[in-house]
Amino acid sequence: MIILAVESSCDETSVAILKDGKEVLSHVVLSQIDIHKLYGGVVPEIASRNHVAHVTKVFNEAITNANIDIKDIDLVAVTKGPGLIGSLLVGINAATAFAFAHNKPIIGVNHLIGHIYASSIENEMKFPLLALLVSGGHTELIYMKDHFDFKIIGSTLDDAVGEAYDKVARTLGLSYPGGPVVDRLAKEGKDTYDLPRVTLEKDSYDFSFSGLKSAVINKVHNLNQKGEEVNINDMCASFQNSVIDVLISKTKLAAENFKVKQIILAGGVAANKSLRERIFNEVEGYEIVIPSFKYCTDNAAMIAAAAFEQIKHEEPTHNYLVKGFSTKD
Ligand code: KG4
Ligand code: ZN
Repeated sequence: MIILAVESSCDETSVAILKDGKEVLSHVVLSQIDIHKLYGGVVPEIASRNHVAHVTKVFNEAITNANIDIKDIDLVAVTKGPGLIGSLLVGINAATAFAFAHNKPIIGVNHLIGHIYASSIENEMKFPLLALLVSGGHTELIYMKDHFDFKIIGSTLDDAVGEAYDKVARTLGLSYPGGPVVDRLAKEGKDTYDLPRVTLEKDSYDFSFSGLKSAVINKVHNLNQKGEEVNINDMCASFQNSVIDVLISKTKLAAENFKVKQIILAGGVAANKSLRERIFNEVEGYEIVIPSFKYCTDNAAMIAAAAFEQIKHEEPTHNYLVKGFSTKD
């Protein structure tokens, strides 16, 4: 089963071709980060215009790299949401046009499910499992009894983890996206600033990161007012430790209570080196699966991997209306 998948929910234009959800025949990701960096974050209108400008080129490159004939493609998969409406529509229109022109069936894939199934490209999913999904827009603990059986057991009440990283980075005068920069600088610093660990009620699987973000902003403001310098590396280390302490304690609690076999780390923040290391070292008794860096941030390979499983639960269509298109979860 050869699947061509398209992902364009935010600021990456990506097309991938996978065989049986695992063998990556081609994987092209065109990032717009350098453009959005100038504005300190993703500008939706600019993102959609850039998807329009590059989507055909990315399609062609993916098909050429895969070294296959278009007639060998069995299915087209495309991210149907959540994401930025203009960005999503470019990918959906490109995918449906391609499917229509070549008479292929098409299926819409939820972006978050894509992030979870990124782990199935290089590993086997073992149920029951717990997925810690940490991205720019989402922070969720998801329990899966089986394939395509999802139960969200906890989520953020305010900021997503990636969003908190990006906002803290901006406060510290660091570039967008904040996650990779904070991750790098934290390695050079020490956890010297006293920041809160917000765990909410006992036994809650929900998260809250806006208090931590405000604590960093207030500390920086107070130090500035006193004319004292902020040690950026130490602030990054303190913030990152606080985030990861909370992520790990909630993951441990959920894994224990739900008696899972495997824990999957998913989403852009799963690229965080310290989180990857600490979850391996501190969460014992479960198989821990973390996708390679290239499958953590937004990419179309994860959409193809999810589609490969999704078609066992949902019929792809030939009517070229992507079922369930939505900018929301
Ligand atoms: O999954 P993703 O590519 O896009 C969304 O679906 O949101 O995640 C992007 C988020 C950004 O907030 C970015 O700062 C964060 O992932 N991120 C990281 C790292 N690399 C990317 N956060 C922490 N550490 C990293 N190394
Ligand atoms: Zn994402």
